[in-house]
Amino acid sequence: MILIDGKKVSSEIRLELKQKVDNLKAEGKSVPGLVTILVGENPASKSYVSSKAKACEEIGFLSKVEKLPETTTEEELLSVVQSYNTNPDYHGILVQLPVPKQINESKIIDAIAPEKDVDGFHPISVGNLVIGNDTFFPCTPAGIQELLKRYKIETKGKHVVVVGRSNIVGKPIANIMLQKKEFANAIVTVCHSAASDLKQYTLSADILIAAIGVPNFIKADMVKEGTVVIDVGINRVEDSTQARGYRIVGDVDFENVAPKTSFITPVPGGVGPMTIAMLLQNTFKAYLKSGK
Ligand code: GUN
Repeated sequence: MILIDGKKVSSEIRLELKQKVDNLKAEGKSVPGLVTILVGENPASKSYVSSKAKACEEIGFLSKVEKLPETTTEEELLSVVQSYNTNPDYHGILVQLPVPKQINESKIIDAIAPEKDVDGFHPISVGNLVIGNDTFFPCTPAGIQELLKRYKIETKGKHVVVVGRSNIVGKPIANIMLQKKEFANAIVTVCHSAASDLKQYTLSADILIAAIGVPNFIKADMVKEGTVVIDVGINRVEDSTQARGYRIVGDVDFENVAPKTSFITPVPGGVGPMTIAMLLQNTFKAYLKSGK
């Protein structure tokens, strides 16, 4: 069993990007900019947003966090998004999800200029991904593909089974793996909570991608020997032995599943750190495309 070290790969990518930014600065050019918009007080969202901002600063990107109150109206948020659509200093716009219930998430995503959609959530980005055009891939699925690539895990003709059908992970990773391209070209099955017997699908996976959002959901009897297991879960479970009162666990029962796998991502330290690296990469790409 090989442990996939997302933390290490993420650091490598961030270092590569830092060098590119240093070169831009040395040439007297402007740097890529990312604005992250956070509405409300969701503790997990706050922590993700501050990690994203910190990662931007570390590599020399321009970074701004727009913190808006829980009571922000849809119109107010739309107006903030629109102001950044036309702000040339920011090449990427990210609205941290979920947004409070008075705001229609789709309307906000639709309002982001597609050329600044570094999350890859805009319908134009999604459509381009499905068609196979150049676009921004959503960051977590892009991070999964990057890990498979860097660990030289063959995907062509392999059976990739995705558990979960979210717009952030399940649907985009299925579409990425389906592409007739390098590091993809897989046979893809997407299964989800409506399956009466999930095991029937998961047991036939060569590569199993767990993106369910339920702690320790994938058990050892659901995985065949030699499977590559990618755990996308980031679940907070109560733990009084930890100073912060909780610990982070994945969607996979790691202790019992890991011995059966050929490769597995740990939680934390697997897919999680890759999301930020891909966000930075997408922001760099948006910057280059802006013609700066
Ligand atoms: N909430 C959970 N994951 C993400 C993400 O990748 N992007 C945004 N914008 N919100 C999220």
